[in-house]
Amino acid sequence: MAEDLCLSAKDSLIVKQHQKKNPLIFRMLVLMVVMVCGVYICSVCVKQIGGQSSVRLLSIHQVVEKPCVATNIEPSETAYVHFPKPKTFNRDECACNPVRNFAILSTQRSGSGWFETLLNSHMNISSNGEIFSVKVRRSNISTIFETLDKIYNLDWLTSASKNECTAAVGLKWMLNQGLVQHHEEIVEYFNAKGVSAIFLFRRNLLRRMISILANSYDQNAKLVNGTHKSHVHSPHEAEVLASYKPTINTTLLIPNLKQVEDMVNKSLEYFKSTRHIILYYEDVIKNRTKLVDVQDFLKVPRQELKSRQVKIHKGSLSSQVENWADIKKTLKGTHYRSFLDDKDYRL
Ligand SMILES: *[C@@H]1O[C@H](CO)[C@@H](O)[C@H](O)[C@H]1NC(C)=O
Ligand SMILES: *[C@@H]1O[C@H](CO)[C@@H](O)[C@H](O)[C@H]1NC(C)=O
Ligand SMILES: *[C@@H]1O[C@H](CO)[C@@H](O)[C@H](O)[C@H]1NC(C)=O
Ligand SMILES: *[C@@H]1O[C@H](CO)[C@@H](O)[C@H](O)[C@H]1NC(C)=O
Ligand SMILES: *[C@@H]1O[C@H](CO)[C@@H](O)[C@H](O)[C@H]1NC(C)=O
Ligand SMILES: *[C@@H]1O[C@H](CO)[C@@H](O)[C@H](O)[C@H]1NC(C)=O
Repeated sequence: MAEDLCLSAKDSLIVKQHQKKNPLIFRMLVLMVVMVCGVYICSVCVKQIGGQSSVRLLSIHQVVEKPCVATNIEPSETAYVHFPKPKTFNRDECACNPVRNFAILSTQRSGSGWFETLLNSHMNISSNGEIFSVKVRRSNISTIFETLDKIYNLDWLTSASKNECTAAVGLKWMLNQGLVQHHEEIVEYFNAKGVSAIFLFRRNLLRRMISILANSYDQNAKLVNGTHKSHVHSPHEAEVLASYKPTINTTLLIPNLKQVEDMVNKSLEYFKSTRHIILYYEDVIKNRTKLVDVQDFLKVPRQELKSRQVKIHKGSLSSQVENWADIKKTLKGTHYRSFLDDKDYRL
């Protein structure tokens, strides 16, 4: 039917050619119609032959394409080196630059947002944010794997993606976002796909608790110009947010601290077979050499890392809560007494 249509169009043009006086234009028109028909018929043919031919084409393509060779990589490291072929773009000149997979495993309000902006200031690191904060992506282990596959194939495109020249790709993942729940399958996945884990925890869980309370208060109060801010970029905004002093329920204090500590300990135990590094927020703040450790761990070229984020709570803990005296009494003499002591905290 397509052919008939094209032929009749050609006929009518030929008929017209006898009537008009500009043969060159008509010849070109006829040529164009013939070309369009040709392309159309061709595309119909390809569709009719169907999937089989495209599969054959693909396998020929793979045979022709030279595989990338990992050079200067120790045998023990090969499991952690990948040459992804993204579906969404071409890695071009960096097609054979090795890529390493990582995941920042952390808990809320432990400096992981700040830490991630530092990593993303590196020209070869793409950390795509807290991807599993969206519940459907962690509904079951299949959706988790699908999401991870997409990220590690470089097909998860965010503002953090360095695209073709990414040398380390990952995400930020909170322990309570399906990570501890599905730990067996995820550890297996990490070991199979060579994913390295960067644990980032906060030593002072009391400070973390204050940060959580202040952040959840601000979700409703929206202290900065009527918008809720989890992270800030100016000292003034930090001051505004820190002006709220929460009251900590002392009955729940120790059970809450214990629950978090327990979850952290469990995650370290579950993931001990993966390639990993353990970092503490306080150490990264005090000692920037920790950032060199991370870059070496990810095997990316060393570079100075920067973040525009400003710390919200500064200074002594006693000035940050309403009921400091009660808190002190509750924690004194317990396993958590060290959280009261901030001598070490100069920021
Ligand atoms: C996993 O969750 C997705 C999205 O909620 C759903 O479509 C899918 O059927 C679920 N798969 C299994 C195996 O439960
Ligand atoms: C890092 O990125 C730069 C610029 O995009 C690129 O030239 C370089 O090859 C990349 N390095 C690695 C180790 O992939
Ligand atoms: C609120 O908005 C005003 C004007 O847009 C700006 O000058 C001010 O810095 C903002 N305040 C904060 C706390 O960000
Ligand atoms: C602290 O939490 C407990 C248990 O949820 C509750 O019974 C108690 O009323 C709370 N205390 C304060 C002062 O809110
Ligand atoms: C967590 O591990 C630390 C160090 O191994 C230990 O001191 C602490 O008692 C553990 N906490 C819990 C709640 O199991
Ligand atoms: C800073 O971190 C590096 C690397 O982890 C470590 O070797 C060094 O001892 C640390 N320095 C201080 C003062 O803690």
